[in-house]
Amino acid sequence: MLPPPGRLVHEVAIVADGSGIMGADKKERPMEVQVVPSFAEMSRRGAAMIGAAIAERPDLVLALPTGATPIALYRELVAAYAQGQANFSRTQTFNLDEYCGLGPDHPASYHTYMRENLWDHVNLPPEQAHIPNGAAADPERECERYEQAVAAAGYPDLAVLGIGHNGHVGFNEPGAALRSTVHVADLSAETRSLAFHAWRDLSPCLFPQLAAFPTHAITMGMGTILKSRRILLLASGAGKAQAVCRAVNGDVTTRLPASFLQLHPRVTLLVDTAAAALL
Ligand code: PGA
Repeated sequence: MLPPPGRLVHEVAIVADGSGIMGADKKERPMEVQVVPSFAEMSRRGAAMIGAAIAERPDLVLALPTGATPIALYRELVAAYAQGQANFSRTQTFNLDEYCGLGPDHPASYHTYMRENLWDHVNLPPEQAHIPNGAAADPERECERYEQAVAAAGYPDLAVLGIGHNGHVGFNEPGAALRSTVHVADLSAETRSLAFHAWRDLSPCLFPQLAAFPTHAITMGMGTILKSRRILLLASGAGKAQAVCRAVNGDVTTRLPASFLQLHPRVTLLVDTAAAALL
C-alpha cells in the first residue's frame, strides 16, 4: 500500500527476486527500504550485508541488537564463520543496551543472549565484544565508560538495529525528550510487559511477576546511534508495521524514536512483507 497523499516520498521498484526496493528521495527522506518476502530472507540478507562489510573492512566497528528479530541473522553469521566465509578476528562489536540489575550470567541478560547466539560460536576476541555492564555498582559511571569506549573505537561503522512495537531503538523509549549519549533509560510499561510475558512463556520461574522484571536499562543514546556511519534497521512481522510506517513516513518526533533515523544519510531498512504492509 502506498503512503497517503502528501507523504509519498518513495518510488517503488520491484526487483527480480520479487522484493520491493524503495529508492529514497534524497532531499526529503534518505531512508532506503528493502522489502523481502520472509523473516528467513531478512535474516539471510542482513547477515550477508554484515559479512560483506567485514570482508571489506576486517576491523569494522559494529553496533549490535538483541531480541527476537536478529536471532536467525546471528545464526547465519555463525554458519558463515563455520564455513570459513566470515572472520571476526579484527572486528569490534558494541551492543546497544543491557538491562540494569542483571549480571552477565543472568539468563535474561543480553550478555547471555550474545554469548549463546554469537560470541561463543565465532572467533570474535572477547576483549573486542563490548556490552554495558547492567550490574555495575554505579550505572551512571558505567554509561560514561561505555560512551567513551564507543567513542574511542571511532563510533560504529555499521549499526544494526531492531525497532520496538512502540518505535524504540535500543532502549530509547518514546517520550517528551530523547537523550543523546549512553544513559540509564526508564523502560516503558509496554516494553516491560512484552519482555516479561516472553520470558514467562520460556521460563516461568525466572521473573515470578512483572514487578520482578527490570525497570531500567543502559542504552546507547540516539546521538550515539546516529554517529554511526551506516545504519541497518531490521523489522519483521505485522506487529511492527505501524512503527515501521511511522519511522519511514511520519514526522520526526521523540514520540517515535526510530523516526530520527530519517535524519541520517545512510540508513537501510530491511523488512519482510508483513512489517512493510503499511508502507
Ligand atoms: P524484538 O525487539 O526484536 O524482540 O522484536 C526489537 C526491539 O525492541 O528493539
